Amino acid sequence: MSGSASSSKNSCSCCLPLFSSSIGRKWIVALTGIVLVLFVIGHLIGNLSIFLGPDAINAYALFLQGLGEILWVIRLFLLACVVLHIWFTITLWRENMKARPQKYAVKNDLQTTSYARLMRLSGLVVLAFVLFHLAEFTWQAFTPEYKTWVDAQGRHDVYRMVIAGFSSPFVSGFYILAIGLLAMHLSHGIASLFQTLGITTAKMRPVFEKGGRTLAWVIFAGYVSIPLAVFFGLLRYPAAACSLCH
Ligand code: HEM
Repeated sequence: MSGSASSSKNSCSCCLPLFSSSIGRKWIVALTGIVLVLFVIGHLIGNLSIFLGPDAINAYALFLQGLGEILWVIRLFLLACVVLHIWFTITLWRENMKARPQKYAVKNDLQTTSYARLMRLSGLVVLAFVLFHLAEFTWQAFTPEYKTWVDAQGRHDVYRMVIAGFSSPFVSGFYILAIGLLAMHLSHGIASLFQTLGITTAKMRPVFEKGGRTLAWVIFAGYVSIPLAVFFGLLRYPAAACSLCH
């Protein structure tokens, strides 16, 4: 988190200390950020199973579906993290704006402002992307026939669905753009959360910054490898069996 956030005037004494102090709210943003980074890494590892072939990714998707109620608990927990992360980011930003007496034109402030702008903008695009992504692959709202695709073993054919989805250069282009913004968000956010949690020392700061950037771009490379592999025909589905695929 960047900038100095003042304690909120309208904080309520009956609330948990975590919610009612500026530091507490920063901690919530940082802790929910960690959960979301872990989800992004876990989801990437699961998605990369597509390179092992249809059986691997379809079995993985079936395993997730088989979790039943546990999957819903995980989904609700993730949703709560997304809501808290966004809500407290906005709250802290508004506190910062109120605490700032004037728009001063020193370089440091400009850097802080453009950093905050980048984090907000990239965060919003990632949110829009996740909603589009859910509509496409989880709710299958754009192509309802995805729901009927099953493999030889009767499992939902996620392999075919992903290849069909990325057969559109527009969809792939949007994914690559959004994942690039996600990487920018993470590249700043990961180092920042170590600072919020007070783990960073002056000596360790460059290490966390470099580590955060490296992790963010490894995540980027992993995710974009899938649409790129479809685009270059490395991942394909027999054309005769799928009119939407290559
Ligand atoms: C190449 C990139 C990606 C691919 C191929 C991909 C693939 C998928 C697929 C196939 C599903 C549906 C699983 C099923 O219902 O069986 C899914 C769900 C999901 N994806 Fe992705 N994904 C990608 C990137 C991302 C990114 C970058 C994020 C987050 C920033 C993300 C967040 C989610 C979420 C939140 C769900 C819903 C999980 C659930 O409710 O079960 N995905 N993804």
